[in-house]
Amino acid sequence: MPHENQANSKRRIAIVTGGSRGLGRNTVVSLAGRGVDVILTYHSNKAEAESAVAEIEALGAAAVAIQLDTGNTASFDAFVADVRQALTGLGRTDFDYLVNNAGTSHHASIAETTEEDFDGLVNVHLKGVFFLTQKLLPVMADGGRIINLSSGLARFSIPGSSAYAAMKGAIEVFTRYLAKELGPRRITANTVAPGAIMTDFSGGVVRDNPVVNKMVSDMTALGRPGVADDIGPMIASLLSDDNRWVNGQRIEVSGGALL
Ligand SMILES: NC(=O)c1ccc[n+]([C@@H]2O[C@H](COP(=O)([O-])OP(=O)(O)OC[C@H]3O[C@@H](n4cnc5c(N)ncnc54)[C@H](OP(=O)(O)O)[C@@H]3O)[C@@H](O)[C@H]2O)c1
Repeated sequence: MPHENQANSKRRIAIVTGGSRGLGRNTVVSLAGRGVDVILTYHSNKAEAESAVAEIEALGAAAVAIQLDTGNTASFDAFVADVRQALTGLGRTDFDYLVNNAGTSHHASIAETTEEDFDGLVNVHLKGVFFLTQKLLPVMADGGRIINLSSGLARFSIPGSSAYAAMKGAIEVFTRYLAKELGPRRITANTVAPGAIMTDFSGGVVRDNPVVNKMVSDMTALGRPGVADDIGPMIASLLSDDNRWVNGQRIEVSGGALL
């Protein structure tokens, strides 16, 4: 029986927000290694986006980088127009996979979290993901896949992460609703929840601060913090047909944090 969304041999196309650095970068390179073409977005660092495109092209896949602030819903119609144009260049009118990955960190106690910071987190981590997905759904092929990035912090509680973690918890609920509502289009939706990973996230604190690095190692069954290579290939695998029946799930990818 042919796979439901891969009954023909056309090349797949993924849109990955924040694909220029960190986990998104590792994801787009992993996808390229599997023969998937990529539209990646960046926010402020165009040079990193261009170097990601070059890395993907060296692997024999096609890549287009588009600037996007996922916290600015007013820019989404123009972004979708850019996506349609990029798809034309890639010889398609639709795309297959959406990875809502872009995000920024926030650390403050509940007492010290400002309304401004909270609104900024809502815009990037919740409202932006909700409405970007809404706007892109008409361009997504039936049988496509959506992955939203959450965090281990939505399951366990580490003081100073309440606002950020609350956004990620909301994304996990939203993802289940996506899976339910998009079932008739054979589109799957899942959440990937990384543990602490050594990227530039949070100012690179997990990577660069020995105290934090040891704390994460001590709370992880596999005895170290994650690296981007622990996440990107997993996301690429989850998008592949091997995982076509995984739907509406939260999958934690943390090396066994706080079990
Ligand atoms: N690293 C961790 O420990 C960890 C753990 C759990 C979950 N996560 C989640 O994983 C995702 C990726 O994290 P990461 O570690 O890869 O972060 P990162 O290394 O800091 O990279 C962030 C990426 O998102 C983009 N970005 C930031 N703000 C944006 C905005 N307002 N609009 C559009 N793009 C924006 C950045 O683009 P520019 O460089 O152009 O600004 C960059 O490509 C996030 O959703 C994060 O919450 C991370």
